[in-house]
Amino acid sequence: MKSLLDILDLDRKELQQLIDTASDIRKFPGKYSHACDGKILATLFYEPSTRTRMSFESAMLSLGGGVISMADAESSSSAKKGETVIDTARVISCYADIIAIRHSKEGAALAAADKGTVPVINAGDGGHGHPTQTLADLMTICTEKGRMEDLTIGVAGDLKYGRTVHSLISAFSLYSGIKLVLISPEELSLPRYVIDSVVTPNHMEYIESRSLEEHIGDLDVIYMTRIQQERFEDPTAYGRLKDSFILNGALMASAKDDCIVMHPLPRVNEIAPEVDEDKRACYFKQVANGRSMRMALIKMLLEEAQKDPIGKEIGLASRAARLPEPEAKKHRCKNERCITYSEPSTEPIFVTEDGRHYRCAYCERTLALK
Ligand code: CP
Repeated sequence: MKSLLDILDLDRKELQQLIDTASDIRKFPGKYSHACDGKILATLFYEPSTRTRMSFESAMLSLGGGVISMADAESSSSAKKGETVIDTARVISCYADIIAIRHSKEGAALAAADKGTVPVINAGDGGHGHPTQTLADLMTICTEKGRMEDLTIGVAGDLKYGRTVHSLISAFSLYSGIKLVLISPEELSLPRYVIDSVVTPNHMEYIESRSLEEHIGDLDVIYMTRIQQERFEDPTAYGRLKDSFILNGALMASAKDDCIVMHPLPRVNEIAPEVDEDKRACYFKQVANGRSMRMALIKMLLEEAQKDPIGKEIGLASRAARLPEPEAKKHRCKNERCITYSEPSTEPIFVTEDGRHYRCAYCERTLALK
């Protein structure tokens, strides 16, 4: 049984299979209208969503399956009475064949997958990752640019808290010839753990910049992101940074004729409405691609679960060597945004790729061992 907690739970071949299936779904939707007959998807959203929740629900209904949903799990579920994510996942596993979960805490989807007994899809875990948005993004780049390699990609906005960016950059590590231009205010730079765990080990070419104007003419893909107001502790910092980058018609005049403009949405004002009419604007195409890719993903994970209902592959915890359990229990992750910090009953899991440096498997922050 496979879950999708982190985009690197899928290899390049599997990503291509999903893109191919999603393209086929777009061409021949009738072929897939009974692919998940009798199956139930639970959408468990502790944070607001328009696209992700509704596209998952639309995807499952279009595959012939059913949906049970908790749109506001934080306030209307037994979480309000203190029920943990892991207990909730155990319970929902009795009602559904697959779960899509969004939560404000980093690693919440991994916690759900660790104790749940059905496949779990990470629909966004705090400021950490959002792998199914990356599926939509990859299909959009593949369709619009005709390739996933040899591209200069500018990612602009909130690279610190923007979970879509973290998953997207991880996915780019699977492709060659990608040059990243990371454009953000200094305070919202890409987190060190993403550089150390993905960018550096894969020798990815990148530069960091504070200016979109300076680089816009070089970019094949302009990936704009919202400044993530809900993750700021200091509202004055948000007020200062919220209009850091605004892509408008004047700026688009300096962009390449064949570049594409992407945004995971929702936008606030980082892309002016006038850009919507530009043929290079692809953000509403991303939305449509997201639904098809989620259909392909649900179908794939349910087929895998049918083949192997017991075995589990749970993200980073299954891709790297684990600190043995008795030793792991002596440590706690110090990241206040990690699910293991707010829900101490969650089993601590620390992993290492090099046998020396350990990271929390939930939020990927480095653990200092004595
Ligand atoms: N892109 C995205 O995750 O949108 P929602 O927050 O509306 O789901």
